[in-house]
Amino acid sequence: MSNEFVDRAEACYQQSEQQARHYFTWLNEQMITKEYIQALTQDFKEWQPEHVHGSSSRAGWLNWSLPNRKSITATVETLKTQIAKPSLRTPREYIQWLRHAGKLDAYLQRSVSYMYMRDLGKDLTDSRTQLRIEATVADIKKTLLRPDKDQTGSFANDLSWTALYRWSQKEGVERAVIWVMDKIKLAAAMIPEGLSAEHAQRKLIKIIIGVVQHVLDELDEDTPLEERTRRLDEAIRLGYSYGLTYPFIDDLLDSTVLSLPEKERYSDMIRTALLTEAVPELEQWDGPNAELVRYVHSELSEAFEYIRQQLKPERRIKFFEQAYVFFESQQRDRIKELSYAHYSNEDLYLPIILKAASSRLIVRSVLSAPEDQDFELRTFYYGLYNQLADDFADAFDDMAAGAVTPYTYYLQHHEARPDLINPYELYWAVIFYLIHQVYRADPQTREIILDRAINGLKRRKERLGAEQYDEWMKRWTADSAEFHQYVQELVSRADDVDFFDKLLRDQMVESLKRDREEQALFQDRVEQTREEIRSQLPLAPSTDEPPISELLMQTVNYSLNGDGKLLRPILASVMGVHEYGLDASAIAPLLRSLEYMHTASLIFDDLPSQDNADTRRGRPTLHRLYGSGTAELTGIYLMQRATEEQAALSTQHFGAQSVLQLIRYSSRKAQDICMGQSLDLHSKGEQLTLEQLNTLCFYKTGIAFEAALVMPAILAQVEEAEIEVLRTFAFHAGIAYQIKDDLLDVEGDGDVLGKPVGQDTDNQRSTFVSVLGLDGARQEMWEHYCLAMEALRDLPRQVPFLKHLAGFIIHRQY
Ligand code: IPE
Ligand code: IPE
Ligand code: MG
Ligand code: MG
Ligand code: MG
Repeated sequence: MSNEFVDRAEACYQQSEQQARHYFTWLNEQMITKEYIQALTQDFKEWQPEHVHGSSSRAGWLNWSLPNRKSITATVETLKTQIAKPSLRTPREYIQWLRHAGKLDAYLQRSVSYMYMRDLGKDLTDSRTQLRIEATVADIKKTLLRPDKDQTGSFANDLSWTALYRWSQKEGVERAVIWVMDKIKLAAAMIPEGLSAEHAQRKLIKIIIGVVQHVLDELDEDTPLEERTRRLDEAIRLGYSYGLTYPFIDDLLDSTVLSLPEKERYSDMIRTALLTEAVPELEQWDGPNAELVRYVHSELSEAFEYIRQQLKPERRIKFFEQAYVFFESQQRDRIKELSYAHYSNEDLYLPIILKAASSRLIVRSVLSAPEDQDFELRTFYYGLYNQLADDFADAFDDMAAGAVTPYTYYLQHHEARPDLINPYELYWAVIFYLIHQVYRADPQTREIILDRAINGLKRRKERLGAEQYDEWMKRWTADSAEFHQYVQELVSRADDVDFFDKLLRDQMVESLKRDREEQALFQDRVEQTREEIRSQLPLAPSTDEPPISELLMQTVNYSLNGDGKLLRPILASVMGVHEYGLDASAIAPLLRSLEYMHTASLIFDDLPSQDNADTRRGRPTLHRLYGSGTAELTGIYLMQRATEEQAALSTQHFGAQSVLQLIRYSSRKAQDICMGQSLDLHSKGEQLTLEQLNTLCFYKTGIAFEAALVMPAILAQVEEAEIEVLRTFAFHAGIAYQIKDDLLDVEGDGDVLGKPVGQDTDNQRSTFVSVLGLDGARQEMWEHYCLAMEALRDLPRQVPFLKHLAGFIIHRQY
């Protein structure tokens, strides 16, 4: 690499460091003059009346709603246990509680203002910003007060992929959102053990939202729709491209996943990319991390290239400078060792100031947003506040992990090093600086910053428990005892300092985690059920009847023994056994019948007279090996065998009425599938309408999913209303399944699929892809996925399995 690059970047780093040094020197002086103590005490005194109610009672905040205090003393205790701890209630109840208490507006106002200040670097005294905040508050309020359809009390559905897709439709950015959802999913799957997939996902999502927010803030009613769509589309892709660096550069290098020499190689690669504006090729990389590094390298290269292309020429240099400062400051911060006793305060703090500031400054640079001096200054000073707050929250874990942060380093060395700055003290000096220097003591800004500071401590206390918290705080507050005691009193007694973003954050992590756990359960259950069913499928020659033709037995078992996914019987089994509590062995015949019918339909579908396919389930199709005649007979045999199985369902168990109803239903559905297949054959060379396509696909594919859901419900005598919901779910999930099948026919890998690709084009079939194109088909698939997921909300029971089945349907590669 030429020295010129390095010199220029290094000069730039020095310059930023100089700015950080100024800031730090100012803060450092505060450690001596302690001016901040007095000023903040005064600030809190003015802040306090709005937040501390009553005199001594811890539950003083209860007073808001209690009309006559004396008459209800007895109920206070009960009330306290019921509602005194908002954090124990569901988020929706909490929001309702705020509303009834008349606190919702203030809560949203402070939360949204904070977001404008921190994430968008705004000045709250600006009138345009105020209008924007008001509008956002109104929007959020409307969403929050919508009835809770699925009654989980959480916002899980509002944070779901479905909700995101619905938003994308409103904004016309479906393509970018589908793209980014696939990317995030893949990233989560690639996160190595030792890093948290939920947090990686959360960070990615947070960054993307942050970038989108910046763009939304620049758009208004006058922006032409086309431009709005284009810019949002770009923001999503840029957000992902930049966000990727959090899990895959910073977190990865922080972790112990890579070995030391690997880290060095990896960091060199990143540095070279930032200096030369081009990602170097990945050379030979061996060992257990090879696959990970290949993925990360390819993903980062693509992201890097996208960002580079999108940058406006006049912003390009700035972007790369900031990116270099960001990376380099993280590097310098990272290489510190907790055991090394001689870092100066500057060694500790300057890289932190730089990394915290540049991470946010880049967001605007990535967007090539116009220069904004004020934004840059505010953001520069703000970063350290968040960094110190976050490090404080994580100090326990960091200590255990031996990570160097100002807090851990101070704990380790301050006894021998009286010169070390107490980071908790510095944190308050930063708050002072922000309120009085950066925001010129604007009362509203002060209010919000103090709310946030007290909230942070309150959350800590809740996490740690009062006792451990007190112990913990003692380590930091030996000096300036009076001020800190006062703060602790406020932590105990002050209220109305909660923030919506914290609620969302907790919800998001929780829902991502639950999702992951459920996903693992789903996979286990599918695999386990599949093995159980698979062993029951093959036919054995019967002994009491004349032996059937050896050959037919062979062909039937050949078809059943391929590696089919067995989705339909699995679905029926999970619903029947796990949801309705039916006896597993009693419904075994039903499960077999479903797979027999499905397998028969595939045998017919592959015939030269229909799709003329050579492979199925990873092996030659039946007619290729035995001829069409035998294949047809095998299909008919399987269909009849399916009816026989159904007729063998125990009437004692299920009642004769239900068994008969099931057989009638099943025969009807088999006829429907024939109609679907016939429609499909006649679509040859035709351009079907979307409606016709939906009908066709529901008949040829959706019906089988419906049957797998409805048949166990018939046996379990489930209410008709619930069956109706299952039908709606099956309708959309089934169509989504076929659309994915059509997509895989174009984009899939024949070896993975076990069947040929490109069949639909060869056969001139009218499919979702041929009619809508790849993007259009994907969007239609997502539409049906959302409709299927939304249908589930009307189900009287929660069935995570169905949710994950829908997810599998649209993400599957086979
Ligand atoms: C293939 O069904 C036919 C379609 C409905 C698209 P599957 O995708 O369930 O195939 P197998 O049973 O796993 O082989
Ligand atoms: C077949 O659809 C649906 C049924 C067998 C009922 P396709 O013809 O698209 O299925 P594949 O792609 O051959 O599996
Ligand atoms: Mg077909
Ligand atoms: Mg086919
Ligand atoms: Mg197909």
